[in-house]
Amino acid sequence: MEKLHRKYRNLWGNEAEMLVLQRRIIDAKPVLRAMYKNFYSEVRNFIPGKGLNVEIGTGHGYTKMFFENIIQTDRVLTPHIAVCNDAQALPFKDGSLDTIMVFGVLHHMKDPDEFFNEARRTLKKGGRIVMVEPYVSLLSYPIYKLVHHEGLNLRTKACDSEKYHLLDANIAIPTIFFKKRKKEFEARYPDLRIIYESYHTPFLFFASGGYIHPNLLPGPLLPMLLRLEKMLRPFGKWLGSMMTIVIRRN
Ligand SMILES: C[S@@+](CC[C@H](N)C(=O)[O-])C[C@H]1O[C@@H](n2cnc3c(N)ncnc32)[C@H](O)[C@@H]1O
Repeated sequence: MEKLHRKYRNLWGNEAEMLVLQRRIIDAKPVLRAMYKNFYSEVRNFIPGKGLNVEIGTGHGYTKMFFENIIQTDRVLTPHIAVCNDAQALPFKDGSLDTIMVFGVLHHMKDPDEFFNEARRTLKKGGRIVMVEPYVSLLSYPIYKLVHHEGLNLRTKACDSEKYHLLDANIAIPTIFFKKRKKEFEARYPDLRIIYESYHTPFLFFASGGYIHPNLLPGPLLPMLLRLEKMLRPFGKWLGSMMTIVIRRN
């Protein structure tokens, strides 16, 4: 496992290889797999079995293990995707999509508003954006700020990096959009209605070590941590490190 992490850190510059390696890291880490399983189970009912469901920023492609009827896309060309495109300029017709799935991608965008404009153009009426993104809470703030490898800037709702690389990000973007400046979002996009939101995953992501660090949780403690996370759900706004947002195109 340590070898995989070292290789990952040494791959700076080669995004496609990093994404392929991410999949191997998921396969090797039960804690990370349990986290994704939780994410996908929560949103399963929002994703229709039929119709056109597009995942943007697919990355490692693990989503396909849970959802059969999806078209996987990414800005980076990897073996997991069907279409290579930037989510800020989607190659789909107006009003053609049932779902746009966004798992850990919004916080990498240079201009997330461009994505939301593309989403409202390409979604059918009644279509949905289904999102799971990092969330900055009282508990997660210091960990994201001090330990996590991605940037955190609560003052700008964009990824303000000069470069355009997989590891460039602003972890705070989703929190700014849907917590700090939610009213601004609602006023700017009256046809995009937030129909579901939840704040969760206080420990699981950090305990997994993500893609960069080793796993911190001994395997036998995983079921206990999963139960604890469930119990702490009502306190997600203060303790969570992730958020789920579902938006309907009216
Ligand atoms: C942190 S990874 C998330 C991967 C995966 N979706 C997950 O749940 O872990 C971010 C992914 O978003 C992709 N990405 C970043 N900016 C993008 C953009 N503007 N358009 C499309 N994909 C983008 C990256 O190439 C990468 O695969």
